[in-house]
Amino acid sequence: MRVLKNLFDSNRKWAEKIRKEDPDFFLNLSKQQSPEYLWVGCSDSRVPANEIIGKLPGEVFVHRNIANLVIHTDLNCLSVIQYAVEVLKVKHIIVCGHYGCGGVQAALENKALGLMDNWIRNIKDLYLSHQAEIDSLQNEKDKINLLCELNVVEQVANICHTAIVQNAWNSEQELSVHGWIYSIEDGILKDLNVCTTSLDEISRTHRLK
Ligand code: CO
Repeated sequence: MRVLKNLFDSNRKWAEKIRKEDPDFFLNLSKQQSPEYLWVGCSDSRVPANEIIGKLPGEVFVHRNIANLVIHTDLNCLSVIQYAVEVLKVKHIIVCGHYGCGGVQAALENKALGLMDNWIRNIKDLYLSHQAEIDSLQNEKDKINLLCELNVVEQVANICHTAIVQNAWNSEQELSVHGWIYSIEDGILKDLNVCTTSLDEISRTHRLK
């Protein structure tokens, strides 16, 4: 039987290290969580939410999937958003993409990947609506990276279009939706400046009253 003993060893060391700095850390956390942030990121192993922004357990509520997508019919993602906004009352939702995202790259290729094609198709649709801008770039890497940025912007809009976020705004709950992108090459985050904080900042078509 394989038991991954190395992972249990490093877990004990990790817990000990935290307890050394704050003996009541886990005890206090076990009573409640009150994170200020919901992180919607890519599943990519190189983009771990808490580490990137230097946050401890208890500080970030996290949802990750391939290419950090927020799809209107994805009950998993929508449930996370609803819980974060309505129960935890997070103040910030951060969509964080990353340059060189494999999911985004796959959308620009024609390789059949199986079940995942259905997921990636959402990014293909996005590519088609920005095709001229993306195709004007010569370099393949630049095309992928531009689509990575556009994908974040799109997912920020998708979050703002949910009834969950609009209900919060309609009831004067403080809530900002941010779009960031991370560079795996240097570990640095960039703000894409699409922070949205109220109903009048989103398209009229999507406003719900
Ligand atoms: Co990715």
